[in-house]
Amino acid sequence: MDRETLRQYLTFYRDLHIDTVFLPAGAAIASQPAVATPKPPEVVLPVMFAPDSGADSLERISADIGDCKRCRLCEQRNKIVFGDGDQRARLVFVGEGPGADEDAQGIPFVGRAGQLLTQMIENTAAKEGIPLKRADVYICNVVKCRPPDNRTPLPDEMEICGQFLYRQLMVIQPKAICALGATAAKALLNSREGITRMRGNWHKWRDIPVMPTYHPSFLLRPYNQNAKREAWEDLKKVLHFVYD
Ligand code: URA
Repeated sequence: MDRETLRQYLTFYRDLHIDTVFLPAGAAIASQPAVATPKPPEVVLPVMFAPDSGADSLERISADIGDCKRCRLCEQRNKIVFGDGDQRARLVFVGEGPGADEDAQGIPFVGRAGQLLTQMIENTAAKEGIPLKRADVYICNVVKCRPPDNRTPLPDEMEICGQFLYRQLMVIQPKAICALGATAAKALLNSREGITRMRGNWHKWRDIPVMPTYHPSFLLRPYNQNAKREAWEDLKKVLHFVYD
């Protein structure tokens, strides 16, 4: 690999707040410090294509994840939940991580929160005169394995799995991303602000507009009528931005 390509890789990963890279499943687990030394050694990076080169694909990312054992979340998972929907979608929804139903089926957002998300997408689109079904968007999560007892993913789990999420987004190149809840917003925007302050406003992940909104699980709790109204408003904004 020449110096310029190496520099591109390192800039790419640094921009994504990744300072450790991981070898593909099956290879010995090792990490490379993402700092350029004056005379770079022959570094073999795991993702052997130039960022933005168009050489990556969802199939390749899924193959790289393989039977992943890169973090502790593998210990109790049943299925890796990679993503679902149209690979060429103009809109991607990013959640936090699989729950019990998703872990059993290997498909994101199929439990109660998922049913609410599907309804929100399809009903809001219908009301706004936009012909859109769940299958027309792409849905995935920050972490691909279920955290025990549905706890929030830990920073190292988000960092390890985040590189696959970033690659998914780079491949799909949607017109906009809707970040569902604080974990997705943090993973994409690395912000310290809470979801209540961030929601409803456009942010950016590598030039792609990101709209953070409440997570559907939060909306399922009682007494959240206001949050529900706000989430519907956020979704309307996103749908008009993407499909008008
Ligand atoms: N919650 C999430 O964040 N993701 C899912 O896939 C299901 C529930």
